[in-house]
Amino acid sequence: MSLDHTRTPTRIRNAELARKIMPAEAAAAMIMPGAVIGMSGFTGSGYPKAVPQALAQRIEAAHARDEAFKVSIWTGASTGPELDGALAKADGIDFRLPYNSDPIARKKINSGEMNYFDIHLSQVAPMAWEGFLGKLDTAVIEISGITEDGKLIPSSSVGNNKTWLDMADKVILEVNSWQSPMLDGMHDIYYGTALPPHRKPIPILKSDDRIGQPYFEIDPDKIVAIVETDAPDRNAPFSAPDATAEAIAGHILDFLKWEAKRAGLPNTLLPLQSGVGNVPNAVMAGLIEAPFENMTAFTEVIQDGMLDMIEAGTLRMASATAFSLSPDKAEYFNRNAAFFRDKLILRAQDISNNPELVRRLGCITMNCMIEADIYGNVNSTQIMGSKMQNGIGGSGDFARNGYVSIFMTPSTAKGGAISAIVPMASHVDHITQDVQVIVTEHGLADLRGLSPKQRADKIINTCAHPYFRPMLRDYFERAKHGSYGQQSPHLLNEALSWHQRFIETGTMKA
Ligand code: COA
Repeated sequence: MSLDHTRTPTRIRNAELARKIMPAEAAAAMIMPGAVIGMSGFTGSGYPKAVPQALAQRIEAAHARDEAFKVSIWTGASTGPELDGALAKADGIDFRLPYNSDPIARKKINSGEMNYFDIHLSQVAPMAWEGFLGKLDTAVIEISGITEDGKLIPSSSVGNNKTWLDMADKVILEVNSWQSPMLDGMHDIYYGTALPPHRKPIPILKSDDRIGQPYFEIDPDKIVAIVETDAPDRNAPFSAPDATAEAIAGHILDFLKWEAKRAGLPNTLLPLQSGVGNVPNAVMAGLIEAPFENMTAFTEVIQDGMLDMIEAGTLRMASATAFSLSPDKAEYFNRNAAFFRDKLILRAQDISNNPELVRRLGCITMNCMIEADIYGNVNSTQIMGSKMQNGIGGSGDFARNGYVSIFMTPSTAKGGAISAIVPMASHVDHITQDVQVIVTEHGLADLRGLSPKQRADKIINTCAHPYFRPMLRDYFERAKHGSYGQQSPHLLNEALSWHQRFIETGTMKA
């Protein structure tokens, strides 16, 4: 992957720093066993591609010699197979935070071989500065270029890069020439954050406010290596929305139109936040046809559907921390970056997901979930209460603080064997107070202003799959008579029996 080092580097315009160019293997040789490494990368965008693979090879060689070699990896969010996949396959990750969607790493987490700290994405940088995460030895950061005066032009994600660059003792840079040069100027890097008691208001009043500068500052003496790459970000492609996704999107669009009228919202609506996946992408597609205009997004990631909305003129601009584009759309973006450039802002994730800002702007938050219970507690992370899927990501940052928080899911999983509406959630990421709307293909339950029992009636009757609806109703009615208390009635010896039945028999069906 390392490029021809004899040619004149065009992305590295600072002559002093250009002297630090070296192959990925030489850079990886500077990382020692036990190192704590802050890497770039957010939902398959802007992660380092060469050094992690070279490090994985080093680790494999050490293991072949019977030498212990593991490292701790902190990132922005998920990365790609060259980072999480390669290092997990080499059995090289001891501790990982804050979000993972790599299947090999997921397996290691769920077999207990990898320690995994799942955390709200807006909290990572503050928690690192507060000292809870320990000492950061090395930062390995992908950038898209270096200016004449030695400033770093960020790549297709910002994530926690500013924090890792500031905190780490030594810095390894990957300069990726696959990234569009038009990224230069798209970022807004804010250097005004501080820890309490010195924290000040973040001066963003609209999604498109710029409060920082386009580049990362760096002490050049900390840079120990620069590696050139030319490799694409690797994101999963989106599949075309199926009937279930279309139905869920349809319910959300009807709700937004109704809510805009009910609350007298402007026809720019309020800033949108959308989780990633096929269903949110279908919502974005539907919004192109909706009677809203000049909308903005204040969100975590920019996905395919948002670029489509911008091209259609329904979305005026989007603020996020990263792209999360399918491979085709990423190539498309690179070819058309000049058009999108002034309509997108990439910020650090402690700003893009900042609760203060999400509350101030009144975001409409739309996220996917694994399951919800009849009272509207939502599980976004752990299947059957114990098996990590990805992590909470930014869903908590947005859901608790938005104008309205919408959670969506197909009503069943695993070919109908699992109900996504259960008596009691087997793990809770979002408590009922943070969950205002639940949507499945069967309907949308607006839970605002309802008591737990009223919520249960609405969720069962509106969202549950018809097969599981009578079972849920039966549970709820019996709980109303046999529960210890009547605020949110439960039969504790039965509340998680659906999950146990699935574990034992492969289905939640009776
Ligand atoms: N019970 C058991 N398994 C379930 C399930 C349920 N209720 N619902 C889904 N699953 C399984 C699916 O079968 C699938 O398993 P597989 O990989 O073995 O096929 C897996 O979970 C993923 O489900 P899928 O339907 O493909 O959903 P998705 O890709 O849309 O992801 C979440 C859904 C909830 C896992 C995902 O949105 C997520 O990680 N959310 C948390 C972070 C977040 O919200 N980020 C956005 C904030 S900006």
